[in-house]
Order: sequence, then C-alpha cells, then structure tokens
Amino acid sequence: MSSRSLKGPRDGVVDDAMKVASALGIRPGETFSVPPDTLTPYIGRDNERNVVTQLFSPLTLRSTTFSNRAWVSPMCQYSAVDGVVGPWHLVHLGGFATGGAGLVFAEASAINPEGRISVACPGLWNDEQVAAWRTVTDFVHSQSTKVGIQLAHAGRKASTMRPWDDHPIARVEEGGWEAVAPSAVAFDGYPVPRALSVAEIDVLVAEFADAAQRARSAGFDVLEIHAAHGYLLHQFLSPLSNLRDDEYGGSLENRSRFLLRVAKAVRARVGEQVPVFVRISASDYTPGGWDIAESVELAKMLREAGIDLIDVSSGGNVANAVIPIGPGYQVSFAHEIREVAQIPTAAVGLITEPAKAEQILHDGSADAVLLARAMLRNPRWALSAAETLGEHIVWPVQLERARTLRRN
Ligand SMILES: Cc1cc2nc3c(=O)[nH]c(=O)nc-3n(C[C@H](O)[C@H](O)[C@H](O)COP(=O)(O)O)c2cc1C
Repeated sequence: MSSRSLKGPRDGVVDDAMKVASALGIRPGETFSVPPDTLTPYIGRDNERNVVTQLFSPLTLRSTTFSNRAWVSPMCQYSAVDGVVGPWHLVHLGGFATGGAGLVFAEASAINPEGRISVACPGLWNDEQVAAWRTVTDFVHSQSTKVGIQLAHAGRKASTMRPWDDHPIARVEEGGWEAVAPSAVAFDGYPVPRALSVAEIDVLVAEFADAAQRARSAGFDVLEIHAAHGYLLHQFLSPLSNLRDDEYGGSLENRSRFLLRVAKAVRARVGEQVPVFVRISASDYTPGGWDIAESVELAKMLREAGIDLIDVSSGGNVANAVIPIGPGYQVSFAHEIREVAQIPTAAVGLITEPAKAEQILHDGSADAVLLARAMLRNPRWALSAAETLGEHIVWPVQLERARTLRRN
C-alpha cells in the first residue's frame, strides 16, 4: 500500500483496512481472533499480517458513521463559566479527536441553570453557550471525528462546588440554588430537594428538547440523554428516590414516564437522522432499588421511543452501595440489555486494554466501548490501541513520526 493512502481522512483508512480484510476473506463484524504475536507494537512488518478488528470497524447509526468503536466517555471538567465552555474544553476534547477515537463525548451539559451539577458545569440553555461549543465541535470535525454531548439535569445532586474546592455544596452567594427532585428525599450529604410539580416536569421536557436543538446548532452529531448516576432522570426511575403517588411514581411505567417523554421530545425535535443515545445506570446495587430487570424493560420502551443505543453504566443513586468494581464490571449489563431488549449498547467501566475492548465487541456484549479514565491518562489511547492490535488507521499527519506500526 502506498504512503499516499496515509493522507486521506480518517474514514478513508477504514476503507484501506476493509480492502485488506476483504483480501484476507474477513467480512466486517465477522468473528476472528487476534494472532498473539500482533499484541505488541512492532515496526516494519508487512501489511498482510494486519487483521480487521471489530474495535476499528465502522459503525453506522441512522445517518452517522463512526470510523471506529473506541469512544470517549463523557467527563465533567468543572471548568465552564456561566455554563460557557472555554479553551480548556477545546484542548481536552480536541486531544481526544487527534487521538483517533471514533466518537468524543462532551460532558454532562445542563438543559437549564438549575440542572448543572456544579456551579462550573457547562450548559445548553443560551446562544452564548452554543457559540462556545461550536469552537470545540469544529475542531473535532476537522479531525474527521464525531462528537456527541450529554443532555443532563442533576436534580437533587445539583448545586455543588467543584470537586477540588474546600466545601461540597455551593452557597447562594457562591451561585448555588435550591435543587429539585421527584420527591423531597436527599442524597447523602446533600440538602433536601424540592419535589417537582407536574407542570414543572412539563417545562423540563420542553427544555430537554430545546437543549437538543441547541446541541445540533452547536454542531454535535450525537445526543445522549443522561439518565444515569443518580441524576434527575435516574432519580425518577429508582423507587428509592421516587416516592411520588401521581403518574410519575409507583409502577415501572410511571417511573419511566418522564424519561420516555424526554426521549420522544428529543427525537421529535431533532428529526430522524440524528443518533440519540440514553445513558442509564443498570443497577442501584441496593435491595428495593432500580435493577437490571427493570433496565431491560426500560430499554425496550426506549427502543420503541426512537432511541438508538443504550450506554450502560451503573450506580450513583445510593451513597455507599456495595458495587463489585473490577475490570469491565458493567459489561454483563450491556450484554443482557443488547440481547434481551434487542437494541445496540455501549459498554463502559474499567475498560483499559485494547484486547479486552476487542473481546467485549467480539462477544456481542456491546456495539462500542466507552473509555473515560484510560483516555484521560492517554488521550491517544485509540491510536496506540490500533497499533497494539496490529491495525492500520490514519494518524493526524502532524503526529505521523511517532507511529511505530508502519505501512510498507
Ligand atoms: C473526571 C470524570 C468525569 C466524569 N463525568 C461524567 C459525565 O459528565 N457524565 C457521565 O455520564 N459520566 C461521567 N463520568 C463517568 C465516566 O463517563 C465513566 O462512566 C466512568 O469513569 C467509568 O469509566 P472508566 O472506568 O473508563 O473511567 C466521569 C468520570 C470521570 C473520571
């Protein structure tokens, strides 16, 4: 293969890889095993030894094709001012785009000021925020990478200081506010929130749709509704935080009603072409709490509501829940949802090794993997994972000289 092919857009490389695959008789998505001797970086071996991994196979959802399935998980940076992102976000997210990820998720971004987790979280409730996000999305797109954003409301876990400040909850004079929730039940260590009225829920549904529209104006390719980690939509799902006796509390159908309304409103607002994901916590790990069985039922309802992928996380609604944390500890949840609810999933949580990421896709547990802390440690994780797996992908030309796996 000539060096000319190194200069194309990232998507073009997948085409090169596909040609190699087809020459080897491997079809996209087909089961294969990585030869053990390709699991370390090497220099100067010939292209015939390449394999086409699932991790570096493209994925198409609606009108969007992701060049690979190694994605950056959303990560709060607590670095916005009045909900407006700045140079930190450009460098932080831009670094992942130059690092070869197929999708870069921007952090939880609030649909209204009270929906922010902290006083320094970003938002999507005004035009200034849209313009600032546009700087980030333009750069990510310049690297032929897709970019997504989480639409979020923190509910009872709102109004905090930044994690590195000397006290956790923001006072009014520091920009703090009264938090809202399904019921007046506090999360450990937080003030008691005010229970939302039905009329306020109606407004929030509309605000999620407005934020989705602003996200599209800001250039985001993918939207993710944040219904995990003990934030507002998760608070409605879980019987431990939702004690309502109206149409938003009680049965699974009632507890899911708010999220399903949001999902349908977002879908209606952004049209049929845009991928919309939902992140859920598959378990509260607490007796009487939200669990995987309800998550599977919810996923079926979300599929019917036009959601394209469930991003499967867990925990966050019960302080001190006993969580069996270990490598890939949430993957079995993604697998079960994918298999039983018949909807694409993304797996997340302590996925750090390329071979493990590949195995998750290979096993049919998920359609993509999301990495957070491994990407923070090494924003070029995807480039180096491709080398580790013996896969050629395009590097930004500026970084080419650092490549160890070379084409002949
Ligand atoms: C600094 C940091 C910020 C995070 N912020 C968010 C967020 O905004 N939204 C979210 O859904 N998860 C957030 N998470 C959770 C990650 O997206 C991910 O689910 C979790 O860290 C597990 O993945 P990992 O083991 O690859 O880090 C955050 C994690 C970290 C480390």
